Amino acid sequence: MKSVKVGLLGLGTVGTGVVRIVEGNQEDLSSQVGSPIMISKVAVKNIDKLRNIEIDPSKLTEDPWEVIRDPEIDVIVEVMGGIEQTKEYILEALNLGKHIVTANKDLMALHGSEILAKAQEKECDVFYEASVAGGIPIIRTLIEGFSSDRILKIMGIVNGTTNYILTKMSQEGASYEDVLKEAQELGYAESDPTGDVEGLDAARKMAILSTLGFRTNVDLSDVSVKGISSVTKDDITYAKNLGYEMKLIGIAERQDEHITISVQPTMIKQSHPIASVNGVFNAVVVHGESVGETMFYGAGAGELPTATSIVADLIAVIKNLKLGVNGLKAIVPYKTKKIQSDEQ
Ligand code: NDP
Ligand code: HSE
Repeated sequence: MKSVKVGLLGLGTVGTGVVRIVEGNQEDLSSQVGSPIMISKVAVKNIDKLRNIEIDPSKLTEDPWEVIRDPEIDVIVEVMGGIEQTKEYILEALNLGKHIVTANKDLMALHGSEILAKAQEKECDVFYEASVAGGIPIIRTLIEGFSSDRILKIMGIVNGTTNYILTKMSQEGASYEDVLKEAQELGYAESDPTGDVEGLDAARKMAILSTLGFRTNVDLSDVSVKGISSVTKDDITYAKNLGYEMKLIGIAERQDEHITISVQPTMIKQSHPIASVNGVFNAVVVHGESVGETMFYGAGAGELPTATSIVADLIAVIKNLKLGVNGLKAIVPYKTKKIQSDEQ
């Protein structure tokens, strides 16, 4: 049986998880799609780096174009991060008729509409479940599960690093600097953690969720952002003594024909379920006009949780490939019409 060949861009935290799941669950995965799945080429920055996974060295290259342009490869999994150069890789891969799975929220928040338009033109899939809330399948849920409803509000904790920091500061009195270092070592933080702690990562995720949930185009500039770098232990203790927990909260809310979107440190009443979302865990509360309030919870970052979303997307892409159809991208509503969004 001919195998489906996958090109991997990046073998860091998430890429390693992808290899582990694809290789470790090969029998089950291949039975779902009807053929073996083979990671045939992997682009990394430094081919000589010591890795905590065994990989056939002949598969490694330092040139992502070698992976993109390999005519044998059907699907590109992009888990290397970056924006402008990475966009060029993805657009060229689509031009060559390859399907894309990516965890890159920076790329999708900034260039999602261009990438999805190219995908539509080329009849290719671009799936990006792992880009928001790691292991929680929130993107599929917003697109498919809420298609019958009118979403009024999306609120949640969508950054694992900052939630890990705030939790450890609150529960153990740990210092901001020490816990940030820990989050970096655990692979939760971005290569430059400024985006995590200053709220930009959460803002990008809220832009993606709002685009999907409100079925419109949301620009990053529509989101007002404040991070946690100025939150002190005293602030956290003060909140606690009043019966609150300090969390970095993203809120996107429909108000008539406007939506307002913000990310900021927020005092949440201890009785609210969001207040007990701790550590690297994320939670997204979606309020629909008909369904009312729903809540989705799970690991928001880390090797295997994130790779679970990536490999689920990969399976979806391969199933589509076999059926000769395109999936989520066909119903991802990147429209030209835009609901005006107010800064808070
Ligand atoms: P890492 O920094 O751990 O890994 C990045 C990988 O990409 C490394 O293997 C690196 O090579 C490779 N790489 C970087 N630049 C290049 C380049 N120019 N050419 C070739 N290879 C390159 O990142 P993560 O795995 O943590 O994250 C990857 C992506 O997934 C990012 O977009 C991130 O935002 C997203 N994401 C991450 C999550 C997490 O929990 N970590 C969760 C959800 C999304 P080398 O190994 O040689 O350095
Ligand atoms: N740095 C991100 C976080 C990774 O901490 O949530 C997951 O997107």
